[in-house]
Amino acid sequence: MNKNKVLEREHWGGHIGFILAATGSAVGLGNIWKFPYIAGMNGGGAFVLIYLLCIAIIGLPIIICEITIGRRTQKNPYSAFRELAPSATNGTRAVGLLFLLMSLGMLCFSKFGLAAIFLLVSLAAFYTGWAFIGLMCVFTPFIILSYYGVVGGWTCGYFLKGLMGGLNFETAEEAGEVFQAFAGSAWTAVSFQLIFMLLTGAIVWFGIRNGIELASKILLPLLFLLLLTLVMRSLTLPGAEEGVRFLLSPDFSQLTPEGVLIALGHAFFSLSLGMGALITYGSYMDRTRNIFTAGFSIVFLDTLISLIAGLAIFPAVFAMGMGPDVGPGLIFQIMPLTFTMMGESLAWIWVSMFFLLLVIAALTSAISMLEVIVAFLIDEFKWNRKTAVVVTLAIAAFAGAMCSISVFDWHAFPWLERIFVFAFGGTKGNLFDVFDSFSSNYLLPLGGLGIALFVGWIWGTRYAVEEIRKGGQQYIDVNFFSLLAGLKDDPISQSRAHTLTLGTCWGIFIRFITPIAIIIAFLHSIGWLSLG
Ligand code: TRP
Repeated sequence: MNKNKVLEREHWGGHIGFILAATGSAVGLGNIWKFPYIAGMNGGGAFVLIYLLCIAIIGLPIIICEITIGRRTQKNPYSAFRELAPSATNGTRAVGLLFLLMSLGMLCFSKFGLAAIFLLVSLAAFYTGWAFIGLMCVFTPFIILSYYGVVGGWTCGYFLKGLMGGLNFETAEEAGEVFQAFAGSAWTAVSFQLIFMLLTGAIVWFGIRNGIELASKILLPLLFLLLLTLVMRSLTLPGAEEGVRFLLSPDFSQLTPEGVLIALGHAFFSLSLGMGALITYGSYMDRTRNIFTAGFSIVFLDTLISLIAGLAIFPAVFAMGMGPDVGPGLIFQIMPLTFTMMGESLAWIWVSMFFLLLVIAALTSAISMLEVIVAFLIDEFKWNRKTAVVVTLAIAAFAGAMCSISVFDWHAFPWLERIFVFAFGGTKGNLFDVFDSFSSNYLLPLGGLGIALFVGWIWGTRYAVEEIRKGGQQYIDVNFFSLLAGLKDDPISQSRAHTLTLGTCWGIFIRFITPIAIIIAFLHSIGWLSLG
């Protein structure tokens, strides 16, 4: 390892710099825009329960893996895997062979695109060994950032519209039409998407301390404040109980196999897991910080905010007499309507406040996706930060513009549609939907599975725990029961067999429970396994 390079790497400045930045990454459109509408479309309470389960048994262990890999190597995901992994092992050869077979299988079904993708993965596994997981990590953010920027653009646009008093709706139909007209007009949508991308780029341009950390420090507290004000407003609406009930009482007959996969994918998406965003953020972390408490805080805050956002939005949905299954336009229609219907003279302030909150949440998340690619280009190809930002943004903005136009008009790109049909044998929805479901439902869980298996079986939990100990000694080896009983510092209870500690508990999850849970959710969703 090149010592100088490590010393040069920029680190988070303040004590809570990392936690704020990582929470900023986790809390995003996923919590406020996506969670409510997918919960609405998948039956509410039962979906929320599965989602919470995924967070606890899959999200939490993996978040600790990612931070640990990052802090240990002080590198971007690809270089991190390169450093930790033997180049090719029988394991990677087996994975390569598996993907080669899958590729041949796809050829038989004439799905040439999938065949090509599987072939690439297979080659990557043969040649780069375990680092192919890191390669996947650097590829995924392009896809997510592209369509994330589209929604980010919508929020910027709606914020301005709100400020100018343009969101005064009388009926749900009117709200729907205005949203269609806004997001469906290519020029407006693409311009706002570009504005959002430029804001994102501007923050990453300034690096870790003066860019990402500073922005998170200012924006995150503002976000909390805005959100709390809004929930209080929403919960006092007449008819709010029905919305609360929809979100909190599970009805399992409403849950579909696809719903389970969506819940799994969303657990990854919401916690920013599965593509190395937290490996990257962890690589700027000092060894004096506690990885466990950082991981717990991020998971706790992220989940809390999703639930609060649900509580702010569903009561309004029901109070306004809308169905919960509106889809991606849900919050863009419901929130403005709610505030005007309350007959408030200051409605425009509430509305613009809500969309400002969304812009903030989206920005602090988008920067973490961009940073993954930028860190890769800087570490691996010695680019300077500014060039890396400009080039990455240009590519993502271009793909994003196509996503944006495709949302209401897939047929604007007949050639692209034809490519998709040729390559994958059909499309589910437009480019925006394809990017969304392909990344959250497949790329992220597979990336997460790779990361868990890698830490559990290849790198080894032993070395991971060694890294976690630095800055977390007082927690990780404490007898779990002593910790719960408040006897953490009691020598006698400490001297009893140290079997169940946070460290051993985490190791068992990462080696067995987490990977098996991901595989079960996958098999269930493709119908090979039925959970009743
Ligand atoms: N977690 C963010 C949200 O909920 C989105 C996000 C940011 C993300 N960085 C990520 C998702 C990395 C997956 C991977 O909106």
